[in-house]
Amino acid sequence: MGYPIKGKTALVTGANRGIGEAVVEALVAAGAAKVYAAARQLTDLAPLTARHRGRVVALQLDVTNPAQIAAAAAAASDVQLLVNNAGFAGHSGGAFTDPTWITAGRREMDVNFFGTLAVTQAFAPVLARNGGGAIANVASVASLVNFALLASYSASKAAVHSLTQAARVMLKGQGTQVFGVYPGPIDTRMAEGIPFDKASPADAAKAIVAGIEAGNEEIFPDPMSQGMGAGYLANPKEIERQMIAMAG
Ligand SMILES: NC(=O)c1ccc[n+]([C@@H]2O[C@H](COP(=O)([O-])OP(=O)(O)OC[C@H]3O[C@@H](n4cnc5c(N)ncnc54)[C@H](OP(=O)(O)O)[C@@H]3O)[C@@H](O)[C@H]2O)c1
Repeated sequence: MGYPIKGKTALVTGANRGIGEAVVEALVAAGAAKVYAAARQLTDLAPLTARHRGRVVALQLDVTNPAQIAAAAAAASDVQLLVNNAGFAGHSGGAFTDPTWITAGRREMDVNFFGTLAVTQAFAPVLARNGGGAIANVASVASLVNFALLASYSASKAAVHSLTQAARVMLKGQGTQVFGVYPGPIDTRMAEGIPFDKASPADAAKAIVAGIEAGNEEIFPDPMSQGMGAGYLANPKEIERQMIAMAG
């Protein structure tokens, strides 16, 4: 079932840069009545709110901070669409035995998995009160097959994929639609060191919003993820074999 954006009130986490900022722009372009742009530092949101005075509202939200999550859910009680976009990648490359996979991995789980879970728990009753609404979780193609260059990040994004499935089941009764977003490489600060062709955040954001409006439960918002996504849906083991072959 499609979820039309026109006239809706949305909230986007990690909205101060990258994909999150572009999703705010795309939601405004699609006719959202109001978008809460949530970020750790309110000052980082000044350019975005200045571009859309009155329609984009700044909100402080570190997704690992329970007090800020509770305050955000109380302040943004009119939210109908929650976009869990905030994310963190703490370590890439190196040997499997590197202990940094564990220290970085804990933080990645904190932000990507527990952050998404905690924000979703806080906003689920808000969405229910506002008619059910929708949630879009920004996972990754690395949710579907592990990119060993980002081994622990991939594991945290696999957890986001699993959480997306859980939310789809557990929030069905309150009428909440749940979308999983699985981007490939997008040209943001997070992907600076990643040696692949990258899509622009603006193009990815437009595809994310189009996917929500079309009712696509799995949204592949760029050429790389579209190829991998189709391959994954057809034959997940073959995608894993291709990753092993690429590693040599
Ligand atoms: N770029 C890619 O290739 C790619 C591919 C697949 C999936 N993704 C996912 O897309 C999402 C957006 O990433 P991006 O590419 O736009 O990267 P980015 O430019 O690094 O942006 C990450 C955003 O997450 C925010 N964030 C990090 N920790 C947070 C926390 N504890 N609380 C609240 N916000 C926090 C950052 O805020 P600060 O500015 O305060 O740090 C920033 O706004 C992430 O979930 C990422 O995993 C990205």
